[in-house]
Amino acid sequence: MRFLVLGGTVFLSRAVAVEAAARGHEVSVAARGASGPVPDGVRHVVLDRAEEIPADLAAQEFDAVVDVARTPSWVARAVAAWPRAHWTFVSTINVYADETTPGGTPATLPLVDAQPEDVDLGRHPEAYGPMKVACEQLVRDGAERAFVVRPGLIVGPGDPTGRFTYWPARLADVEPGEPVLAGGDPSDTVQVIDVRDLAAWIVTAAETGLTGDLDGVGPATALGALLAEASAGLGVEPRWTWASDAALEVHDVAPWMGPRSLPLWLPRPAYDGMLAHDWSPSRDAGLAARPIAETGRDTLEWLRATPDAVVTGLTREQEREVLDSLA
Ligand SMILES: NC(=O)c1ccc[n+]([C@@H]2O[C@H](COP(=O)([O-])OP(=O)(O)OC[C@H]3O[C@@H](n4cnc5c(N)ncnc54)[C@H](OP(=O)(O)O)[C@@H]3O)[C@@H](O)[C@H]2O)c1
Repeated sequence: MRFLVLGGTVFLSRAVAVEAAARGHEVSVAARGASGPVPDGVRHVVLDRAEEIPADLAAQEFDAVVDVARTPSWVARAVAAWPRAHWTFVSTINVYADETTPGGTPATLPLVDAQPEDVDLGRHPEAYGPMKVACEQLVRDGAERAFVVRPGLIVGPGDPTGRFTYWPARLADVEPGEPVLAGGDPSDTVQVIDVRDLAAWIVTAAETGLTGDLDGVGPATALGALLAEASAGLGVEPRWTWASDAALEVHDVAPWMGPRSLPLWLPRPAYDGMLAHDWSPSRDAGLAARPIAETGRDTLEWLRATPDAVVTGLTREQEREVLDSLA
């Protein structure tokens, strides 16, 4: 098949291009060439999506298009250029208005209102979910066959956000019995998907002509179990020290990501549903999720080979401050 990946030089869209090429498809990636290297065996088409699609590119036929954009006008132009291809639009679980109800699926969760005009996400990050809602609808309206996939937290080698990467980085050199800070309660539910599993599903979706709206999430798991599995995969045995939401807030620890944050920690009950979707509709539609132990090991290997990789979260000193206060 002839694949066009709009993006293709970073994390998920790159993994899709790599997977499609590995399966013997003819793959083109269309990007400016600013964010990262083009995968081997893939054709690079220079495209700035802030501008019109050049006529010679629009005239080319593709069997499958995969788009990761956040900006409605970019998606509108691309769907108009290739309406007959199988379209995969990579959206996000941030399209959902309900982040508290566990067990949600695309069939049960309400959406936020669409933001159909382009908004600068640097200045208005809250427009991310609403613009994705608008992009999804442009694809459903404009493409003959549309697959909308809404990922939750994507993890694994190549992650530019450094969120899950915090954990393999933190656990890499833990001494037996060394205290390691975890946030919230071990029974809090979390959910991740390995970038390679999501990419494989997206390529299969194009091959089989899958359509409809599905979440790109792995099985919901207790945070304590996920961290235990990740540490077992790295062959380490930390002494987990759990700080409650209140204790972390007192120490100005931020949830989720960023400076002084504890990745994978989300305050409850406000975020009880965000990483607790029912993944069975996606699993039944072919999504497979590898063990977190493997994702953790491979992420650490990538991190060690990539000195400029981003890792977000607490520094060791900041972690020590919180641990000392709990002792
Ligand atoms: N990470 C997560 O946990 C998470 C969770 C939920 C959903 N998602 C969704 O998953 C997708 C992730 O996609 P991704 O990993 O491939 O990263 P991305 O940051 O969404 O996309 C990066 C790609 O877009 C290209 N690009 C950026 N600006 C461009 C422009 N003006 N013209 C042409 N191409 C442009 C980049 O290449 P150039 O810069 O070289 O042009 C690069 O190839 C996104 O749809 C995101 O919303 C992610």
